[in-house]
Amino acid sequence: MEKTLSLEFLRVVERAAIASARTMGLGDGHKADQAAVEAMRGEMDTVGMNGTIVIGEGERDEAPMLFIGEKVGAAAHDKKNSYPDVDIAVDPLEGTNLCATGAPNSITVLAASEHGGLLHAPDLYMEKIIVGQACKGAVDLDAPPADNLHAIAKRLERDIEELVVIVLDRPRHQDLIRDIRKTGARIRLITDGDLSAGISTSLLGTGVHAVMGIGGAPEGVLTAAALRCLNGEILARLVVSKPEHEERLAQMGIKDGKKIYTTTELAPGKNIIFASTGVTDGSLLRGVRFFGEGIRTQSVIMTLNQRQVRFIDSVHLEKGSAVPVRFY
Ligand code: FBP
Repeated sequence: MEKTLSLEFLRVVERAAIASARTMGLGDGHKADQAAVEAMRGEMDTVGMNGTIVIGEGERDEAPMLFIGEKVGAAAHDKKNSYPDVDIAVDPLEGTNLCATGAPNSITVLAASEHGGLLHAPDLYMEKIIVGQACKGAVDLDAPPADNLHAIAKRLERDIEELVVIVLDRPRHQDLIRDIRKTGARIRLITDGDLSAGISTSLLGTGVHAVMGIGGAPEGVLTAAALRCLNGEILARLVVSKPEHEERLAQMGIKDGKKIYTTTELAPGKNIIFASTGVTDGSLLRGVRFFGEGIRTQSVIMTLNQRQVRFIDSVHLEKGSAVPVRFY
């Protein structure tokens, strides 16, 4: 599955990125998201698979496309197929507002696995702590931030003042931010995009050592899919604060709302593909560049079993080979 589908999914995230990048800075998040969704959905139908959306744009009644349970892929049009069954999690435009305002770090994202390989997480919030390979096993979601930061500093053999922690800039994180600052660790507050932030913890050289705080649960599962390939760690727990949340969990077959999920529990697949393309320039990926008659994109494709992390720079010669291609 990884071998045959990873480059297919590259096309899917690239197309979504190009479509949403055309709306960059227009101040219309809805339009940006819709462009990504439509492009992703259209391209997905050309992929040789019997796909099921397990994390998408929401329930069928609120999402016309990429709704949870929707069948995607060429199998839907080809009845006598022998395509593989694939579970798909998407965030067609992670950082919708970032794209709408032309701010850095919006990306398109897709993760895939064999059936059952990605947790069917409800669209709730999730408490998260995310670290890279060197800090696996050193952090605890219930420990005070100071304890976790000391443990991370120890594993990384550096002073706590040399750590950088990414936190979503939200009022709910006031105490967390205060507690982190007290330790002397440095904070990078972000307006959106804890998924790409989470991946940064597990790539050497990004200068990001941890992500802490509450963000979306779907983003948590997608982060876990990437971290399975990069050997990083996410620990996470759903935020269940209202009776309707309990109902939602029951509908999705989740019995223990207080459970702390590990990376492997969020993305247990034996085969995992993670694909993402930059929409606006960011710390992981460059954004889409339009030049005259061509388009350039940068993507990352990771596969668990094949053990590959590929950074892919594509030039799309939309108007044919007469378009001059710059070396870099
Ligand atoms: P979108 O994909 O909807 O743009 O999500 C952006 C994001 O910042 C995520 O990265 C994060 O997990 C979530 O929103 C946080 O939610 P909220 O904005 O409600 O605090």
